[in-house]
Order: sequence, then C-alpha cells, then structure tokens
Amino acid sequence: DLKNLAIPKIEDPRGNLAVIENNVVPFEIKRVYYLFDVPSGSTRGGHAHKTLSQFIVALSGSFDVIVKDGLDQKRFSLNNPSKGLLITPGIWRELENFSSGSVCLVIASEVYDEDDYIRDFEDFTNYNRVERS
Ligand code: TYD
Repeated sequence: DLKNLAIPKIEDPRGNLAVIENNVVPFEIKRVYYLFDVPSGSTRGGHAHKTLSQFIVALSGSFDVIVKDGLDQKRFSLNNPSKGLLITPGIWRELENFSSGSVCLVIASEVYDEDDYIRDFEDFTNYNRVERS
C-alpha cells in the first residue's frame, strides 16, 4: 500500500520542527539513510523489496517517486518536508527529477540486506504474480 502521510510538526517562529516516530510510520525504525548531491537527470531506485517497508521524505527540494505494483503505476511528487510516502513491500520504485540541492530521507523497517532486493523488473513481475495467486 502507498500512502502519503502527514508528519506531525511543531510550528515555531524560530523554525519548524517535524518528528517521525512510530506513531507516523507503521513499523519499527531500524535504519535511516539519505540521498544527497544527486546530479540533475539522475535516476535512483529501480528495484523492489520483499519485506522492507520505507518511508520517504523530501527533506529539501523535490523529486518524483514512480511506483509500480506490476499492474498499475503512479507518480508521486515529493516536495514537502512535513509529508512522507510510505512504500510497503512488493512495490517497484524509481526516483527521478531531483531538484538541485534536494535531499531524500529514507526511513526503513529493516537493516540493509541485499537478499531483500529484487533488482530485475522481470523477476519483480514474476514475484508479484506468484504473490497474487
Ligand atoms: P540502492 O538501495 O540500490 O540505492 P537506490 O535505490 O537509492 O538507488 O543502494 C546503492 C548501493 O548502496 C548498493 O550497492 C547497496 C548500498 N547500500 C548499502 O550498503 N547500505 C544501505 O543501507 C543502502 C540503502 C545501500
């Protein structure tokens, strides 16, 4: 399931503060990483996960997340640091259209495990076909 979730924020004339805890993401947070210094025209992602859930936030700037479940595809434009996109397992994702200086925060439900990746699109469609049947 894909969801655009609001991140609770504490607005303050000194600057806003947003907090991501387990009341925002529906999983226990095990890892945090971020993409930065992404050259214009670059594409990231291009894979799915078997068990990993991720919560993606445009901390600065903007980028697009294209998600595919094997049947449909959808494009989400992320440009708001108080909103995040929840990507559940079994979803193919590509990230593109990074604005200059953008930072893509990823909050993940698992530690890094290469065996959890599906990096071939044909493997992904086969994997999902089996999952659905
Ligand atoms: P990858 O997840 O394929 O990047 P993206 O989907 O953002 O384009 O990761 C790129 C490389 O970095 C790959 O060789 C695996 C490595 N990596 C780690 O070692 N640890 C991590 O937590 C992540 C996210 C990636």
